[in-house]
Amino acid sequence: MMPAMASRQIVAGRTCVVTGAGSGIGRALAQRLAGQDCPVAICDWDEDGLRDTEATIAGPVLAKKLDVRDRGAQMAFASEVAEWAPAPFGMVVCNAGVTVSQLAAEAAPEDDEWVMDVNFWGVIHGTRAFLPILLEQGSGAIVNVSSVFGLIGFPSQSAYCASKHAVRGYTESLRHELRGSGVTAVAVHPGGIQTNIVRHSRFHKDDQGNTDRTVLEREFDNIARTSPAKAAQTIQDGVEKGKGRILIGPDAAMLAGLLRMAPVSYYSVMKRLEPLVRRS
Ligand SMILES: NC(=O)c1ccc[n+]([C@@H]2O[C@H](COP(=O)([O-])OP(=O)(O)OC[C@H]3O[C@@H](n4cnc5c(N)ncnc54)[C@H](O)[C@@H]3O)[C@@H](O)[C@H]2O)c1
Repeated sequence: MMPAMASRQIVAGRTCVVTGAGSGIGRALAQRLAGQDCPVAICDWDEDGLRDTEATIAGPVLAKKLDVRDRGAQMAFASEVAEWAPAPFGMVVCNAGVTVSQLAAEAAPEDDEWVMDVNFWGVIHGTRAFLPILLEQGSGAIVNVSSVFGLIGFPSQSAYCASKHAVRGYTESLRHELRGSGVTAVAVHPGGIQTNIVRHSRFHKDDQGNTDRTVLEREFDNIARTSPAKAAQTIQDGVEKGKGRILIGPDAAMLAGLLRMAPVSYYSVMKRLEPLVRRS
């Protein structure tokens, strides 16, 4: 028997929340949703980026400078958004994230903690702040941004991979808990998206042993194929279709397929395929 599809979620016209909306995927999501008549509540710790996003939005917008690691600030933001919301809630996207490039054996512990605090605790605080509001209204989606690195491990990204696997485990558990509530929880796994994630990262050494961050920035620009606007579209479409897991980009689909065929030895296959995925 086919498993029952999750119920469809309405997003257009509903109040939506996006963390980390001052750049990249978060900014593109806020802009896309606003273009579909969604009042948007956005936050970021980078006030300049946040204000730049806000300035591009013509409809109702509530923008708040906020560090997602701060549980109290996320709770206060949720209360403020609930007071303000001109329409029922559609989706709450816990998107803010950071990374560090360093080998596990040489890792600066404070950088590993930074990544876990933003990527994992930031998502948990955001989920717990907004979930009661969605449960009260009996609809809506908690959308937590993981990564393809929440499906595989990758050299020099041990803390990032750990944080994104944690987001996936948390979100999938929540999804099962929410069965029958009308609310859903969705894990998003982007492949390479053309954003500032690497420029905003902390850097010690990459997977090739490079200690010059500009090399990694160039590599990333070379490999990341999907635009933030396309990522935003994929997220909205996936949520509206009731998907529990959303993969973004052909690289993410390819990796998910590879993982099914080679659940342990996927990295060896990836290394062999590497020259094919680089732009000439
Ligand atoms: N770009 C990719 O290739 C890619 C791939 C997989 C997953 N992701 C994930 O997508 C999400 C969005 O990243 P992006 O690629 O748009 O990167 P980005 O750096 O362009 O945007 C991330 C935003 O999060 C904000 N942010 C970081 N720490 C914060 C904090 N403590 N409090 C509030 N805001 C904070 C930043 O200021 C920035 O505006 C992240 O969770 C990232 O891990 C990105």
